[in-house]
Amino acid sequence: MANDTKALLPQAAEGRVSKPAKWTTKSRVFFLLKFYWTFYVLFWLLPRLICEHFGPSSPPGGYVDPDGACPQVDALEPAGANGELWANLSALYAEDSYEKRAISWLSGAVRVPTETYDDMGPVGEDERWDTRGPFHEYLLEAFPTIHSSLKLTKVNTYGLLYEWPGTDSTLKPILLMGHQDVVPVNPDTVDQWAHPPYSGYFDGESIWGRGSSDDKSGLIAILATIETLLEHKFQPTRSIVLSFGFDEEAGGPQGAKPLAEFLLDKYGKDAFALIIDEGAGYVEQFGGIFATPGIGEKGSANVKIEIHTPGGHSSIPPKHTSIGMLSSLLVHLEANPFPVHLSRGTPVYQTLQCVAAHAPDVPPKLRRALVKGRKSDRQLRKAEEIVFENNALKALAGTTQAADIVAGGVKSNALPEQATALVNHRIATDSSLKDLRAHYPGLFKHLASSFNLSYTAFDATILDSKATFGDLIVSSPYALEPAPVTPTDADAKPYALLSGSIRTTYAKRREAKGLEAEKVFVAPGIMSGNTDTKYYWDLSKHIFRYNHHNQGTGGLGRIHTVNESMESESFLEVILFFTTLILNADSADL
Ligand SMILES: *[C@@H]1O[C@H](CO)[C@@H](O)[C@H](O)[C@H]1NC(C)=O
Ligand SMILES: *[C@@H]1O[C@H](CO)[C@@H](O)[C@H](O)[C@H]1NC(C)=O
Ligand SMILES: *[C@@H]1O[C@H](CO)[C@@H](O)[C@H](O)[C@H]1NC(C)=O
Ligand SMILES: [Zn+2]
Repeated sequence: MANDTKALLPQAAEGRVSKPAKWTTKSRVFFLLKFYWTFYVLFWLLPRLICEHFGPSSPPGGYVDPDGACPQVDALEPAGANGELWANLSALYAEDSYEKRAISWLSGAVRVPTETYDDMGPVGEDERWDTRGPFHEYLLEAFPTIHSSLKLTKVNTYGLLYEWPGTDSTLKPILLMGHQDVVPVNPDTVDQWAHPPYSGYFDGESIWGRGSSDDKSGLIAILATIETLLEHKFQPTRSIVLSFGFDEEAGGPQGAKPLAEFLLDKYGKDAFALIIDEGAGYVEQFGGIFATPGIGEKGSANVKIEIHTPGGHSSIPPKHTSIGMLSSLLVHLEANPFPVHLSRGTPVYQTLQCVAAHAPDVPPKLRRALVKGRKSDRQLRKAEEIVFENNALKALAGTTQAADIVAGGVKSNALPEQATALVNHRIATDSSLKDLRAHYPGLFKHLASSFNLSYTAFDATILDSKATFGDLIVSSPYALEPAPVTPTDADAKPYALLSGSIRTTYAKRREAKGLEAEKVFVAPGIMSGNTDTKYYWDLSKHIFRYNHHNQGTGGLGRIHTVNESMESESFLEVILFFTTLILNADSADL
């Protein structure tokens, strides 16, 4: 609108001005002024005011992304011989007999409780790992063709690594990930489950139980896909590698970490065309269906704050004890949160821009601020204000802090010689551990000085004096940088391949079931936590956390708690998704 008006203004004016010959200079000037004024109000000022107040309208069928802020690739169907196989398999997956088979694959996997606890010792010492043995036996029995055809390596006893070499070794392989373990079921809540948590019960609609969604649906869907492809004599051109950890729910130190090291050693840096691990699916937002593959993960760090002061009898206390000082520090910390901004280029910004570009029912005020915010900083701040009313979105966009553990003192009549707190930070994708660490020296310096404490932050001396009352030490026992952000620009072929595969899968599954399909849009997304991919950054620049769940039908909402379940229809679509992706990637230029 604004550009057209600009072009219109000088052209129209010139055309009219050259006409009348008999006019005096005075009348000419007067006319010109009047003329320009009219044009200015009609074509320049008014449209601007209208835009400010009502925003871009949303035509039926969705707002048409005018400046390509969220381009969509077309649905991508496998071509050639793979296309024929794909059509056959999409039809097969809609048959009752196959659906039954898929449901029984997942039910059986849920029936083996592969619980992970936070305090588990090394594999081989802690017996609680042993549940993985029966799980492997189950997989061997359920997927015989895979186990007679693919090379299986067990890394650190229970890590599963399957390799299916393609005929063209010059093509970078694809890597599909998942995890075998589940979070424990709280014994006090077993009777609150609609069906027992390790029953794998199928009620005609959903498979119930711990792991039915997170993440046995992902792992089993991948294996179901490969088993079926093998049964149909598919021979990949591009190699396929499967890597399944067994302690993701405890951060993956004994599963994913050694698996990643093994892969790095064998295949090398950036050896994989793309990596897909558990993650988001698709869901309706403001009237549009959006699939949001995670292209980034926030960083994470625990910061330990310790105060050491002399002990003594509490009948003659100093003005502040270690506990009192620590309390002041924590109050000050909470009073000074990290500033949060919606920055251009971040995954959260990209998700919002896609929604603004394609969802029909975005509130006009928000859409206007987001669309204009692509160029105007003022409008971006406006968008930020609206968006951050949602605390969860604000937390996803910024660096957060939560004081989660405090400890100090031992006895009512003894002064506490030390007090400690543990603060958990989740670091924004456009920030870093360096930024986080830089925050602390200034934050506590004046308090440390007023309490007469020496101050060391991350091994650097901030305040030092021979004569101090005690010590303040800030350190970081655990720290993980934000993940590198996966490219999604026009040159990013893996993102385009994934997007096209998602759109095709969504349409094809509905076609095979005789249902109507609206369009699905693909928007870059962000994971709120860290998956096993945190060990895999060096293996590919194209990492996606995505498993094509229908988030509108349960599943994801109940992971890690009572009544976890997976709708069979959604599960069958996940199998079609992996099938489509593998067949599309097979000979694609990636
Ligand atoms: C697809 O199915 C048809 C009909 O059953 C069969 O003739 C054809 O060989 C199948 N193609 C592939 C690639 O599996
Ligand atoms: C689990 O599902 C059952 C059946 O729908 C329901 O009665 C029960 O309240 C649910 N439990 C929780 C904790 O939501
Ligand atoms: C700080 O503490 C030391 C050791 O207790 C003491 O000698 C010194 O006077 C104190 N300084 C201030 C400014 O309180
Ligand atoms: Zn998981």
